[in-house]
Amino acid sequence: DRTPDDTPGRHPGLADSAFLKAARGEPVPHTPVWFMRQAGRSLPEYLRVREGIGMLESCMDADLVTEITLQPVRRYGVDAAIFFSDIVLPLKAVGVDLDIKPGIGPVVANPVRTLADVEAIPDLTSEHVPFITAAVRALVGELGATPLIGFAGAPFTVASYLVEGGPSKEHAKTKAMMFGAPEVWDALMRKIAGIASAYLAVQVEAGASAVQLFDSWAGALTPDDYREHVMPHSSRVLAAAGELGVPRIHFGVGTSNLLGLMGEAGADVVGVDWRTPLGSAIPLVGDRGVQGNLDPTLVFAPTDVMTARAAEVIEAGRAAKGHIFNLGHGVIPSTDPAQLERLTAFVQSYPLD
Ligand code: CP3
Repeated sequence: DRTPDDTPGRHPGLADSAFLKAARGEPVPHTPVWFMRQAGRSLPEYLRVREGIGMLESCMDADLVTEITLQPVRRYGVDAAIFFSDIVLPLKAVGVDLDIKPGIGPVVANPVRTLADVEAIPDLTSEHVPFITAAVRALVGELGATPLIGFAGAPFTVASYLVEGGPSKEHAKTKAMMFGAPEVWDALMRKIAGIASAYLAVQVEAGASAVQLFDSWAGALTPDDYREHVMPHSSRVLAAAGELGVPRIHFGVGTSNLLGLMGEAGADVVGVDWRTPLGSAIPLVGDRGVQGNLDPTLVFAPTDVMTARAAEVIEAGRAAKGHIFNLGHGVIPSTDPAQLERLTAFVQSYPLD
């Protein structure tokens, strides 16, 4: 069987990278580490190349995407690159009128409320995103043995932006649709699942060697509501990614009561935020790996405090089938890059025997 790891043209060391080994649950030379939102946050070289260019515009420029994705790999020497894009980019690519406002996030001009609104959203094909294919191909060449993680937003989290029209704390309109308009909800979730699956396929076919499904806001749901209204749609995306032969990471925030279900949805690795100790998370996810979960604010503590807490995370992770070190959520924009550099070196040199 040919897997994406031994496709001709792939770097021979890729399959043996610490990141992919951990994702497959194999023994590793060191705990692999990368950071959610490592690309495009606190790096001065990022702020420089983004000057005068809008967020979505930069996501559609293959050369910029390539450069921004590589910046944290160059600076920190992390074990994986995350593709620079956004969870709403595929919607923009098919023609949904939306923007990403600095300091606010995605804003949708005409929020989705009816079945007709859902049906007006086209499905995604590779022709919508030629710049993604071009950027992934360029990156895989540049990255060599460092894996590239492709990603998509999960149906619930993306639905929240589409239905609310922007960022939301309560997701009240989204959940009102989920509880009160099951046909519209089902159509919307199927629509987004199809777009996410196609978006991941474009990335993997161009050379991404793992994927992460971001269901950042799933923690707003009870386990029963997640299981009934959300999980089947995320499962469809994860199953489609599984067909492509790459490991799948499934991440959400505030999901301590959902970790088992998020694993069952079809993940090889479950992402855990910092509120749940890995020691509690590992028995919940079953025979799967975990990713996480240092509190992202620990980078503001003295370095020895940060690394002592990182050591606790690494030690707890040893009980898992595989452990990929990360923060419990994205890099906070005011983070000092020098702290992340020290944290990366600490994790990579931490002795496992
Ligand atoms: O480094 C990486 O992780 C790759 C790039 C990436 C971005 N967004 C770039 C970005 C990734 C993986 C995402 C995912 C994303 N986008 C998620 C899931 C991850 C999470 O944090 O939970 C979500 C919920 C979004 C939606 C989104 N996009 C929000 C809430 C925001 C506002 C963030 C802020 O504080 O400004 C964005 C904008 C965004 N996405 C920026 C970047 C670099 C900032 C762009 C700018 O303001 O110029």
